[in-house]
Amino acid sequence: MTMDIPFTRTRTPLSRPDDTSLSFGKVLTDHMFMMNYEAGRGWHDPRVVPYASLVMDPATSVLHYGQAVFDGLKAFRQADGSIKLFRAERHARRLNKSCRALCIPEMDEDLIRRSFEAIVAADHGWVPRAPGTSLYIRPTVVATEVMLGVHPASRYTYFVICSPVGSYYKEGVKPVRILATDTHVRAVQGGLGEAKTAANYAASLSAQQEAEAAGYTQVLWLDGVERRWIDEVGTMNIMMRIGDEVITPPLAGTILDGVTRNSILTLLRDWDVAVNERRISIEEVMAAGRDGTLKEMWGTGTAAVVSPVGELGYKGEKITIGGGQTGELTQKLYDAIVAIQYGRAPDPHGWMTEVKTPVEA
Ligand code: COI
Repeated sequence: MTMDIPFTRTRTPLSRPDDTSLSFGKVLTDHMFMMNYEAGRGWHDPRVVPYASLVMDPATSVLHYGQAVFDGLKAFRQADGSIKLFRAERHARRLNKSCRALCIPEMDEDLIRRSFEAIVAADHGWVPRAPGTSLYIRPTVVATEVMLGVHPASRYTYFVICSPVGSYYKEGVKPVRILATDTHVRAVQGGLGEAKTAANYAASLSAQQEAEAAGYTQVLWLDGVERRWIDEVGTMNIMMRIGDEVITPPLAGTILDGVTRNSILTLLRDWDVAVNERRISIEEVMAAGRDGTLKEMWGTGTAAVVSPVGELGYKGEKITIGGGQTGELTQKLYDAIVAIQYGRAPDPHGWMTEVKTPVEA
């Protein structure tokens, strides 16, 4: 239901790019969802409006103290032309969880979900049709109080913007080279690691730059205390197959509760694959790499879905995983998730929800 969310249609629609030329996040659509918060009044005025710049006073608190959270989910064009969201409810819940971590007032979860539907309905013509493409939806909350004192702001803006995207990697699923760092840390327990907040991405940049300079694609993050327990890879959760068991670090406060992570663990359990959410050290992984029991490793996230790891570097040593090729289980997981998303396979867990289109002003 989007009836009670007012919609102001743009008078200057943009021309849409060719579906087959899409990369990630460079093209934005015609509209945005917006809602405001003010202490004493709560969240109010949900609306879909033409996409426009946000005008901010230079003293707006988010620009100084970083009270900013976001999430990211996708809408998929189905073979019959309809549009479905992947796990919208879980993304809405996670956005509120991120809000709590940053002292941002929570929103009604049903309204968050409807905000996704409202913007996709408004921009339904932007949901691409070419294989491997989707509409990436970026809900974001920022503090908009104008003040230089350090305290939770009294005003916030929630907006949802969208970008038609191609598959994250041009050639589809392609193994990446990752470098474990023990000089930088991304998050510590008690910090913000499990929130999807701007600060975590800012904290990742210099290590990412160093990894790229050394010829790697991504950083493998170790814990912030002992610097030996594996946390995550780049902006994705990490999983590996050692022998016949899939191991992934537990949700213990430093990593994001990835929606793709959860979906993949669910599929693996459906398939009776042994799954162990436990701490795993970089030494154990390197040893498994040396003795040949490390069969596959992959990152999971909304943007790339599954990203195979072909090589791991640590303290000057390099380990090639699965001959540097995409592993069998990695490919099977990617194919299974994508098949559910595009409606080519049954959806036994009810992950997909249809967006009714079009909405009228
Ligand atoms: C993901 O979806 O995997 C991410 O977290 C990347 C996103 C920040 C672009």
